Amino acid sequence: MAINAIKGMNDILPGDVETWQFLEAKARQVFSAYGFAEIRTPVVEKTELFCRSIGETTDIVEKEMYTFSDKSDNSLTLRPEGTAPVMRAFIQNRLHNLDPVNKLYYMGPMFRYERPQKGRYRQFHQIGAEIIGVESPLIDAQLLAMLHHYFCEIGIDAVQLQINSLGCPECRPDYRQALIDFLELRLGSLCADCQRRYQSNPLRVLDCKATGCQESTVDAPSVLDHLCGSCEDHFARVKKHLAALDIPFSVNARMVRGLDYYVRTTFELVTNQLGSQNAVAAGGRYDGLVESLDGPALSGIGFAIGVERLVLMKGEEKVPAPRPDIFLASMGSEAAEKAFVLMSQLQRAGIRAEMDYLGKSLKAQMRRANKLSARYALILGEQELETGVAELKDMDQSSQQQIELGELVMLMRGLCSSS
Ligand code: HAM
Repeated sequence: MAINAIKGMNDILPGDVETWQFLEAKARQVFSAYGFAEIRTPVVEKTELFCRSIGETTDIVEKEMYTFSDKSDNSLTLRPEGTAPVMRAFIQNRLHNLDPVNKLYYMGPMFRYERPQKGRYRQFHQIGAEIIGVESPLIDAQLLAMLHHYFCEIGIDAVQLQINSLGCPECRPDYRQALIDFLELRLGSLCADCQRRYQSNPLRVLDCKATGCQESTVDAPSVLDHLCGSCEDHFARVKKHLAALDIPFSVNARMVRGLDYYVRTTFELVTNQLGSQNAVAAGGRYDGLVESLDGPALSGIGFAIGVERLVLMKGEEKVPAPRPDIFLASMGSEAAEKAFVLMSQLQRAGIRAEMDYLGKSLKAQMRRANKLSARYALILGEQELETGVAELKDMDQSSQQQIELGELVMLMRGLCSSS
């Protein structure tokens, strides 16, 4: 029996991959304008890294990690997200010694053992960005402006930015307790998961999709009513800076995010085009995370975009695969040999050249040139080899011109650079 890919892990095939390349290239281009450098970290990390950063009582750590022991009995985990590995690399390589402000971006696969459905996979891809070393709310607004700019560049506008503040270690305990007190009175209507975790992680209850949990928390206390003075001021300034940059947003006080490292600003870019998987990008501030991983006491903020969700939103609007610039058709083995040499000269000059490798008839070769949407076609036969002159067909205009074979590369260079 043929072997299939693992459930929830997808191949990205030609025809789709061009859209992926477009999304990645735009990210590199936009992020670089904001001073970000790329960082690449391993796909596997020590399990402890994720337990300590994402939080023991989160869904990710409790249920969704691909964790295994290697042959030396080390517990390893396929990264479920990119922030913790980037912080680990930041600390290990002492990047703060090189620059007090580090702006890093990454792209690559992440792994979560979730129930696969449209927009939710077990191997999925994120494009993420992190800024380490700045506490000022200016940087929150700058990061969100970059995210907004990126979505403009890729032509996706059916998204809304929602922001919230989750407070800090000063004010969060107060809010936590207020929420626990509130939930205690409604325990009977909460789902089994929330009944179990309402003490250890009460904020998660606000994010639970179970109808009972949603209905019974409609009047839950708002985190925004429990912010300390400095968190309130920070959040007010984030909003002010966003307004100054004309970045549209709304405040969603119920947004709690699924990872424990967040403090103060959190945000999601949501859409109504993807059913229940409505977040296309998300992130927030994680002051304290670097220190909790035994690094220096530095602030941090970042986001990650779900690439599969972007591709779904692009829908039929796919980026076309590049077409060959020229197809070299030939009759007879000597002409095929010449076509082969010419093709390789063209390719070395950066021109997309194709030929027939299967010994097909001239008619079949021209059919293939058409199917590939080749821009030009050249037919080589005995006579062309003798005279060194051939017809170059413009397949779009249905016109042709005589050319010297010795000048083909130069001519094609000129034609390709002008089109
Ligand atoms: P997250 O909210 O867990 O945050 O994931 C960010 C985005 O990744 C989501 O909004 C979604 O688009 C995509 N995503 C998550 N899980 C899946 C899945 N199973 N299938 C497809 N797409 C998915 C983080 O990962 C944080 N590290 C973001 C961050 C960076 N915070 C600060 N810096």
